[in-house]
Amino acid sequence: MTGNPRPIRVLAVDHTAALGGAEIALTRLAGQLRMDGVDVRVLLLGHGPLEARLRDAGVPAIVHDLDPRIAATPREAAFRPGSFLVNFLRSARAVPALVRQVRQLGADLIVANSLKSALLVAVVAPLARRRWVWHLHDRIATDYLPRVAVLLLRSLAVVGPAMIIANSHAVRATLPRCTGSNTRVAYPGADIGPPAQRRARDGGPVVGMLGRVSPTKGQREFIEAAAIVIRTQPRTRFRIVGAALFGEDDYADALRTDAASLGAESVIEFAGWSDDPSAELAGFDVFVHASPVPEPFGQVILEAMLAGTPVIATRAGGVPEIVDPDETSDPLSSVALTEFGTLVTAGDAVALAQAIGSCLADPDRAAERAANAQRMVRSRFDIAVSAEVVRSAWREAFRHPKTAVMRHNRWRYDRRSR
Ligand code: GLC
Repeated sequence: MTGNPRPIRVLAVDHTAALGGAEIALTRLAGQLRMDGVDVRVLLLGHGPLEARLRDAGVPAIVHDLDPRIAATPREAAFRPGSFLVNFLRSARAVPALVRQVRQLGADLIVANSLKSALLVAVVAPLARRRWVWHLHDRIATDYLPRVAVLLLRSLAVVGPAMIIANSHAVRATLPRCTGSNTRVAYPGADIGPPAQRRARDGGPVVGMLGRVSPTKGQREFIEAAAIVIRTQPRTRFRIVGAALFGEDDYADALRTDAASLGAESVIEFAGWSDDPSAELAGFDVFVHASPVPEPFGQVILEAMLAGTPVIATRAGGVPEIVDPDETSDPLSSVALTEFGTLVTAGDAVALAQAIGSCLADPDRAAERAANAQRMVRSRFDIAVSAEVVRSAWREAFRHPKTAVMRHNRWRYDRRSR
């Protein structure tokens, strides 16, 4: 008998304290795990609103201020040779202090929750003699990241972490095949409260988007679709909720010009950042997720479904795992109905307009699908389920510290010695 295994202490690291999707997912996950009695705390490499969110969720957070210019470098620029080298040198200065911090906190396992933090943790963890887990919220693919970044991050996935946790099967599919046995999929779960009831509202229908304002999220395509929809449904209003977070302010500014040049400025409302996304989502008659590039997962879709709002989303990346989990819809159709919403071809504003038009024209059928979706999210995407997957992956990483390379070498060794 070995008795109960010692509970492990986990330190999750994120380079930013802004409220991006990966950071919101971390807050939910760590909050749930702490409630389940897991000793997880968070190290942030800069100050920001995430600190208060973590505190509210009962998760201890420590800030180790890195040079703020590192977090501010947009993802596409971060891997250009010049800025990569400069940021590398900026972070290198923090390495000894971070190694000390990991030891002082008595962390057994380190979790990197963002791409930038993974690069740092890959150096800090071996120096602190700790294993690390990469919680991956991004697709490692060239439609999303520069080619050198893809090469670098894929190599890191093979030699670095003891375990990788991907936020969707689509994300997992972007990793080298040899990482397969070291990778688990844990969906970013949703907090399941009492089912939301929708209230009737006055005025024309509201079609809304909610999320970070960025070319990867498709606010421009949404505006193009709006300009088409109002030709036949002129009472419709379009609400864009969210702000640019990671150096994408030029895109956000250009959206207003786009709306004006398409003659849609009077029907589009730029609502800015919201502290109450659930209320916003519940106020939409249709929710649109318009990412023109494959979205790694799309947790806001879960939130819209939980609010009981009909969903239209682009068919790419991890999104079909939410909107069409049983793969019942026609993959070739540019507008495809599923049991839980509508999937449209990514980047196709005309298809998006058609899907919005159909939802508005038949609100009863849209509401039926929304009710199915609400039930489905409550049963399949509970954060408690995701937390259990993550918890056992952490335990496994701690006990069986094998990167893909180590597993491969052991296999070769075993074969030779047979
Ligand atoms: C990132 C991804 C998003 C995902 C979230 C949580 O923000 O872009 O698709 O929902 O992380 O995993």
